[in-house]
Amino acid sequence: MVKPMENRIHLLTGGTSGIGKEIAIACAKQGDTVILLARNVPKAEAMIQEFTQSHPNAKGSFNVVNADFSDLQSVKTACEEVRSKYTTIDIINNNAGIMNFDYQESKDGIEETLQVNVLAPLLITHLLLDLVSKNGKILFTASALHQGDINFENLEFKDSFSAFKVYRQSKLGIILLTRYLAKEYANQQVGFYAIHPGVVNTQLGRSAGWFSRLFFKLMGTTPQKGAETHLFVLGKENHELVSGEYYAKSKVTKITPQSYNMKTARALLLRCKEYLQPYIDSKKSFFETE
Ligand SMILES: NC(=O)c1ccc[n+]([C@@H]2O[C@H](COP(=O)([O-])OP(=O)(O)OC[C@H]3O[C@@H](n4cnc5c(N)ncnc54)[C@H](OP(=O)(O)O)[C@@H]3O)[C@@H](O)[C@H]2O)c1
Repeated sequence: MVKPMENRIHLLTGGTSGIGKEIAIACAKQGDTVILLARNVPKAEAMIQEFTQSHPNAKGSFNVVNADFSDLQSVKTACEEVRSKYTTIDIINNNAGIMNFDYQESKDGIEETLQVNVLAPLLITHLLLDLVSKNGKILFTASALHQGDINFENLEFKDSFSAFKVYRQSKLGIILLTRYLAKEYANQQVGFYAIHPGVVNTQLGRSAGWFSRLFFKLMGTTPQKGAETHLFVLGKENHELVSGEYYAKSKVTKITPQSYNMKTARALLLRCKEYLQPYIDSKKSFFETE
């Protein structure tokens, strides 16, 4: 049972489709102000209009801020817009993600899965963490597809691309960063959580061939069900949860030994720093960890 949510400022990415859309609707119904960081503003606005018509008594509301994660300047500009409108945020819910079935580069010339699934959420967290309220939460949508290790020699899988390899690595990366940030910020009462939603029938495999799309359709649960673990974590107080943990089926779940390796996590953070250097705020100590 999700606890009542009132007046929380909830920044959500990937809220225009699939799991994120369900989270957005559930949280706005219960009183959150949901800031949708969306690449497709007309799509977000249409969703809000539909919500307003079908939930006239909703306690919460929406605000749309444009951000395309394939363009790091756009992410930075969006964070500046958020800062200009809000002095505190209670939740940063890093949910947007992609699974590309062929090699794509972002506007920044970086393999797109790495950028959208890892670099953009890390940049958002870096630029907005100081706005997060005491007892606030940072969520990252992870995946059970996180086996193996980080390929530091070829982080972008140039010339050896596989949809599975890049996606798997991006989700291991986000789990490692969740654990690392939880340790770094342990004394600040902010909770960091990695969430696996299950296999869910969404638009995630949109660029796949018919066979993989059919797999998602036949094997995937509904987006409503996929949102349950997020809503479980969002409905608890931080002292009822374990910061840095991976949650699946609304429970802390033990996963691969590689995902607990803080040396790997730190090395990854430093590699991410290299990519993000032009967009980093040097006044913040986020990347200056020991
Ligand atoms: N579905 C599963 O079985 C499954 C399993 C484990 C983990 N996950 C994770 O769950 C999260 C949500 O995915 P989903 O399954 O709900 O898929 P989805 O229906 O495709 O939703 C993905 C969301 O991310 C947004 N997005 C994609 N690229 C973006 C970009 N460049 N800039 C800004 N936003 C962007 C999409 O925006 P648009 O609406 O504009 O396309 C959409 O709102 C992802 O992190 C995914 O990896 C999914």
